Amino acid sequence: MIKLQVFSLLLLYMGSLANLSAEYSNTASLDGNNFKVYWTHNATSNMMYIALEVKATGWVTLAFAKEKSSSMKDYDACLGYVSGGTKVLNDYLTKSRNSPPEDSHNDCMLDEAMLNGGTTTIKYHRKVNTGDSQDIVIEKGEIIVVWAYRNAVTSLSRHDKKGFETLTMISSGKAAKLKSFYWKITVASLSVVVALFFK
Ligand code: HEM
Repeated sequence: MIKLQVFSLLLLYMGSLANLSAEYSNTASLDGNNFKVYWTHNATSNMMYIALEVKATGWVTLAFAKEKSSSMKDYDACLGYVSGGTKVLNDYLTKSRNSPPEDSHNDCMLDEAMLNGGTTTIKYHRKVNTGDSQDIVIEKGEIIVVWAYRNAVTSLSRHDKKGFETLTMISSGKAAKLKSFYWKITVASLSVVVALFFK
């Protein structure tokens, strides 16, 4: 009986990590299908909830950058890995093409991490604006994100793959206003059609 309960709990736990598209509001595939990022912005708490699902068994990271610096300068990264029973997530600000130093304050809060069938899944959250000078504010509209991962080694040795991407993690007010404007026009037009129909 106890075995069955433990098994059910295990299934529930695994399911909660597997069904990330249902759990998060947004998703993007980076590096083909090798690096998936899921995210939800909670506007009330101004918190960003992120999940990374990467085909790698070493370290994985998603970072924010103000510009696509080729010298690895000033990428604000939450970087994590799973090794044995250890689950790690730390906050870094890259300085140069080398192992980045850890921030003096860790603003990357680990929710869950798992390594299963060669895929590392890391769920975490951070404030949109941490107030830390070693972090970058996640702005509304298009922003630059940097992804990187190491296939097998969890120590901070150089990535096997890395790249830049442009994402909208928090929609700009303009897009939301435009959507609401089109929605109002649609409702108004439908009301006119219905009114004419029953005239
Ligand atoms: C926070 C984690 C990291 C991120 C987000 C990251 C990201 C990047 C990106 C985007 C580039 C390419 C820049 C360009 O050419 O335009 C790059 C290059 C480079 N990085 Fe990193 N990196 C990270 C960690 C590391 C570590 C730990 C090392 C070494 C120990 C390293 C060493 C290098 C080197 C040598 C290059 C230039 C050669 C190459 O393109 O591979 N990086 N990195």
